[in-house]
Amino acid sequence: MTDDILISPSLLAADFARLGEEVASVAAAGADWIHCDIMDGHFVPNISFGADVIKAIRPLTAKPLDVHLMIAPVEPYLEVFAKAGADIITVHAEAGPHLDRSLQRIRTMGKKAGVSLCPATPETAIQYVLDRVDLILVMTVNPGFGGQSFLGSQIEKIARIRNMIGDRPIHLEVDGGITPDNAASAVAAGADVLVAGSAVFRGHGGLDYANNIAAIRNAAKGGRAPAVRLRSAAG
Ligand code: DX5
Ligand code: ZN
Repeated sequence: MTDDILISPSLLAADFARLGEEVASVAAAGADWIHCDIMDGHFVPNISFGADVIKAIRPLTAKPLDVHLMIAPVEPYLEVFAKAGADIITVHAEAGPHLDRSLQRIRTMGKKAGVSLCPATPETAIQYVLDRVDLILVMTVNPGFGGQSFLGSQIEKIARIRNMIGDRPIHLEVDGGITPDNAASAVAAGADVLVAGSAVFRGHGGLDYANNIAAIRNAAKGGRAPAVRLRSAAG
């Protein structure tokens, strides 16, 4: 696990009429990555935006674009998202029968490969692809919409996945309903990347976004405190 806790604001909660400004603003406000939610109205019951939007925002920031594909089938679209400028491409374990192939394909294109699990999917769904991934994304809401409440049932799954990861250099990302109130519990369970949409894009841009990101980051650090205490107790 990396020492840093990374914050990946979800553009789903941004003002789409001013998307370019919102990307620049949240990047300057301290975002580590930019989370881009791609929804197809089929795998999830909502439609967001596609690869042309990724291409349009790519020149606006040097931050990694963390692209979460909630689409099925996913395989035919991997190349277009890679070419549009995604850095991390995450596919859902539930999106099709050939997860192993999709993950290999993402890495072959020189991108970081991520796999995501819906709340009802057990961690065993990814036990045979652990050596193919750079990131595991645990959904802490049912995918499709921003602004939903965090599902506490996923905390145990996050902890189990952290154990499964062992020493592998894999990020463990949580997505859905993250706020300063639950960030520490997600981190204590083993998450090191926090996606947040509505908890970041509230207020009036710049300074508000910086405060919102700082509040999540500071709260999240509380989730690391027990481990730090244990380490120092052990000498
Ligand atoms: C849900 C998306 C999330 C979500 C995050 O399908 O994958 O990224 O929009 O938004 P909040 O933080 O508002 O739940
Ligand atoms: Zn997402």
